[in-house]
Amino acid sequence: MNTFVAQAPGRINLIGEHTDYNLGFSMPIALEERTTVRFSPDGSDRITLRSNEKGGGISFALTARPGDVDGWSAYPAGVVWALAGSGHPVVGGTMEVSSGVPIGAGLSSSAALECAVLLAMNAATDTNLDRIDVARIAQRGENDFVGAPTGLMDQLASLHGEVDRALLIDFDDSSVRPVVFDPAANGLALLVVNSNAAHQHSTGEYASRRESCTRAAHALGLGSLRRAQGVEGVLDRIEDEVDRRRARHILTENQRVLDCAAAMSAGDFRRVGDLMIRSHASMRDDFEITTPHIDLIAESLVEHGALGARMTGGGFGGCVISVVPVADVSAVSDAVTRDIADGGFPAPTVFTARAGAGASVK
Ligand code: GLA
Repeated sequence: MNTFVAQAPGRINLIGEHTDYNLGFSMPIALEERTTVRFSPDGSDRITLRSNEKGGGISFALTARPGDVDGWSAYPAGVVWALAGSGHPVVGGTMEVSSGVPIGAGLSSSAALECAVLLAMNAATDTNLDRIDVARIAQRGENDFVGAPTGLMDQLASLHGEVDRALLIDFDDSSVRPVVFDPAANGLALLVVNSNAAHQHSTGEYASRRESCTRAAHALGLGSLRRAQGVEGVLDRIEDEVDRRRARHILTENQRVLDCAAAMSAGDFRRVGDLMIRSHASMRDDFEITTPHIDLIAESLVEHGALGARMTGGGFGGCVISVVPVADVSAVSDAVTRDIADGGFPAPTVFTARAGAGASVK
């Protein structure tokens, strides 16, 4: 029988955090690093997974239900469950998974895995779905099978990625507009500092931020905070002080995404850097999803010459991204690594990243 090969990248969100489930804006890039799934259907009623990272031999039935599968294999199982639940064909076989996306770093290794599994399964069953349907089915698997109440950004970024382009996403209609993102053409690099910090309690914290935003929207009599965008004095009408700050992050972050897209199109990376610094402060003070470790990394990057720096992803660990003159990359990396050690935190992994292509079937 044939083997069907699909690959999907992780992502870095340049700006616009926790805005996706509030129907706002964000601007991720797809990474060059990607997860590859080689799927060999065998006519059975099970999927067997083998992974370069996690070893082999885990298998689940095509009829597995939420709660039946845990650990990393819940992501592929969730995709199969969501595909079947949407009326699309699924077949059994062996999936060899090779992950090039750092796991647990806030770079969406899970969305990369979901999208690669989904595209490989679709190829094997000769099913053609729009990218938006692929993204929604993968998200349904993550929300309702894995149990993580995440938005749609990671899957859209993985599916729509383009080389040297950021993706301006409007979650009100799920539209994606490519925006030139080529820091190298301006003598700059996108420098990523992976804190290597474990995301403690991050799922519960994520869910509680989401609930806060829903409450804030309801307090305004709105279905979503997007409808409050640009409305003068709207925040004063939210009585609960914490919910008001959460909403302020969302509304100001949406505006920063739009401003950042305009600055990038104009090649104004000083402004991009400034917006990144403001975004980080908003995540730290209003949305409260950073940690002292992550704040230290962001501050150190700027102190040693980055134009701007901010945490990327859901929060409570993961990576800090920054824009740094190419000539200073090694000095800034060394200085930040020293500051992190002086702060008593674990050694980081530092690397530069570029916007890469989206998911594909080979
Ligand atoms: C995680 C979720 C996304 C998004 C980000 C925060 O990556 O999977 O849907 O909410 O956090 O911006």
